[in-house]
Amino acid sequence: MHTERFQTNQIQTAADLLRAGELVAFPTETVYGLGANALNADAVSKIFIAKGRPSDNPLIVHIWDRSQLPMIVRDIPPIALEWMNAFWPGALTIVFPKNAAIPDNVTAGLDTVAVRMPSHPITRELLQRANVPIAAPSANRSGKPSATTWQAVAEDLSGRIAGILCGQSSEIGIESTVADPNLNPPRILRPGGVTLLQLQRITPNVQGPSLAVATSSESQSSENLNSPGLKYRHYQPRARVQLIAIDEAGQQSTFSGNAAYIGLGPIPPGRMYASAKVCSSVDEYAACVFEYFREVDRLGIPLVYCQSVGDGGVGAALMDRLRRASTSISP
Ligand code: TXA
Ligand code: MG
Repeated sequence: MHTERFQTNQIQTAADLLRAGELVAFPTETVYGLGANALNADAVSKIFIAKGRPSDNPLIVHIWDRSQLPMIVRDIPPIALEWMNAFWPGALTIVFPKNAAIPDNVTAGLDTVAVRMPSHPITRELLQRANVPIAAPSANRSGKPSATTWQAVAEDLSGRIAGILCGQSSEIGIESTVADPNLNPPRILRPGGVTLLQLQRITPNVQGPSLAVATSSESQSSENLNSPGLKYRHYQPRARVQLIAIDEAGQQSTFSGNAAYIGLGPIPPGRMYASAKVCSSVDEYAACVFEYFREVDRLGIPLVYCQSVGDGGVGAALMDRLRRASTSISP
């Protein structure tokens, strides 16, 4: 299949393809998404094939306007409404009771559906012109680092999808926060662009995510993973990812010479990396980490050290991604 590249003056063509049941990748403020018409089960099934995604991992449904919600959800619980008022449009995905109009393959058979209203103007225009809810996971091959540039999407999915809407790099660079207001207490299932603290300002008893992380490429047996995607390995470049402590930019005893580094630095004088990315803030680190993983692979470097960061701001979500990408996760 030829994968067409659309510029941002061709949003209507991309929207028409989505309406017609084809797959189109598009930019959002978090990461690039791989979209399909969420009301069309055949279109949605193509997502799982193109990504190599396990079919028990449900998708997020994207909307541009609240008037689309009744088609997707059975009910809007009061906490969900408060979260929508505070964080939509933006990087919060909310879990709702599912409406029957949404095919079962979108939600992997669950009785709930995850919905997000992105803030990126190009995403919003695409969603408006498509005028159907759009199911979209991150636009990467399953298990790989998420795509935050159209070039990364092309690298993973060229020949497998109908088109890519080419925009700028994703500003946040890490996926949305997935939270479930129907649990008691309400809980973050996946940390992301909206922080626990921000949610707690609206709903004081919201809980953070459980720290369970898969330790093999197979599914994990742990019972209480409410977000099915969390049991799979994610975000991994070919290079081995090794977390290092906050104050350890140059002290790795295993340092081999052919390694890369990403973190806040400073890198001690005399310490040589084959490639290094020193970020000026946690936000910048989050925004570029997935693209840097891909760069390390392009350079053929077999090992990348990632400096740990504190939990503030997007730090918790960044650490979640680094832990999952890392091969040195303890069970
Ligand atoms: O920022 C994002 O969220 C990006 C952009 C494209 O919007 N999308 C994204 O999708 O990250 P994906 O498929 O890579 O991750 C979706 C996550 C998975 O962890 C999945 O298990 C969870 O959302 N999820 C989806 N539906 C769910 C549901 N009904 N209940 C619980 N978790 C759900
Ligand atoms: Mg993903």
